[in-house]
Amino acid sequence: MNDLLDLAARQLAADARSAPGRIARYWSDEARAGRCRTISELRALARRTVPRPVFDYADGAAWDEVTAARNRDAFEQVTLHPRAFVDVSVVEMSTTVLGREIALPVIAAPTGLTGLTHPDGEMAAARAAHAAGSIYTLSTMASYTLEEVAEAASGPKWFQLYVMTDRGLVDDLLARAVTAGYEALMVTVDVQVAGVRERDVRNRFSVPPRITARTVAQGLAHPRWTAGFLARPRMTPANLGWSGSTVKTLASAVNRAFDPAVTWDDLDYLRSRWAGPLLVKGVMRSDDAERCVEHGVDGLVVSNHGGRQLDGAAATIEALPAIADAVGDRAELLLDSGVRRGTDIVKALARGARAVLIGRPLVYGLGAAGEAGVRRAFAILEDELKIALALAGYPRISEVGREAVS
Ligand code: FNR
Repeated sequence: MNDLLDLAARQLAADARSAPGRIARYWSDEARAGRCRTISELRALARRTVPRPVFDYADGAAWDEVTAARNRDAFEQVTLHPRAFVDVSVVEMSTTVLGREIALPVIAAPTGLTGLTHPDGEMAAARAAHAAGSIYTLSTMASYTLEEVAEAASGPKWFQLYVMTDRGLVDDLLARAVTAGYEALMVTVDVQVAGVRERDVRNRFSVPPRITARTVAQGLAHPRWTAGFLARPRMTPANLGWSGSTVKTLASAVNRAFDPAVTWDDLDYLRSRWAGPLLVKGVMRSDDAERCVEHGVDGLVVSNHGGRQLDGAAATIEALPAIADAVGDRAELLLDSGVRRGTDIVKALARGARAVLIGRPLVYGLGAAGEAGVRRAFAILEDELKIALALAGYPRISEVGREAVS
């Protein structure tokens, strides 16, 4: 009896000694990410982890957020038509985009100010994209510099450009992108002026954030985020040399720096300046797509900026077929905005995209669990895509055609 009591006491003591380790493991980024089974669960965890104004900046969209919702609805309206009697014992998901092989047709979209969501920001997101065998696109508005991200993540990278009124700055960014090894240039054309994201207006979202009673309360309520933020604050776009001392709303900063007078001549200018592959992001019409091809563009991203710019615009999966018909094989087509499931990727491939980009899923991953959370976002989509392709009867993504959907 005494022996038994002694054994139980020793077991209890051992359990108590290892408890801090077990708790630490439970709270680790890896464990938190591992508990999320879907992109929507990553979103829910990010929503609990980061302060509301920061979450809203990433999650929100323009005006009534109709286009953001429509991006999702339109994917749900597309019907899959599975093929029977196809050997799907091996599913091949690798492909090439602009000459670069990737392990799955999912690329990291550019997201600005990612360091607000997690102090490792774009560096973590880039490392996770590379771990998944894919490409990372660095935003002009990134929280880390082109050089810092190139140093931290050695895999394939593209650079996303917003055309600034200060063309000296544009030239400088292009030169830095070449030197730092960015392989392709993606010019975003749907931010002529800042979209109105009413959640940001209500939250008085600014760069850098204002210190008010409300932001302090938000910080106290989100200790995990706050500890990272205080240790390594990344509050302003690192590539633009904006001073951290002046507080501006993001929209006013964008409207001051971005050129609203960009035309096709500027595309020619950029084409003449950039020797590598050139993509235009934010094309939603077949006539514009054709014109881009005539101006020497190699790739198009059919995108409505995740519904963050012109509310009321079509969903991208609706706009894609006409653009694919107009462009044929003269340029490579990518699509983003609303991709949350493996089946969404199959639908985009069927309607003519070579790959998709994901924006918010990466930011949700970062907010939920840092780099591990972004790796989880890629892993979730990879697993779902593999199963969706098998069930649809398409073991090779190159074979997914229009007949697969209606
Ligand atoms: C973006 N997006 C974006 N696009 C771009 O060209 N340059 C940028 O700096 C940013 N910044 C940015 C920040 C945040 C927080 C988000 C959510 C999005 C748009 C992005 O590249 C992409 O088009 C959309 O995110 C795609 O929609 P989903 O995947 O978010 O639904």
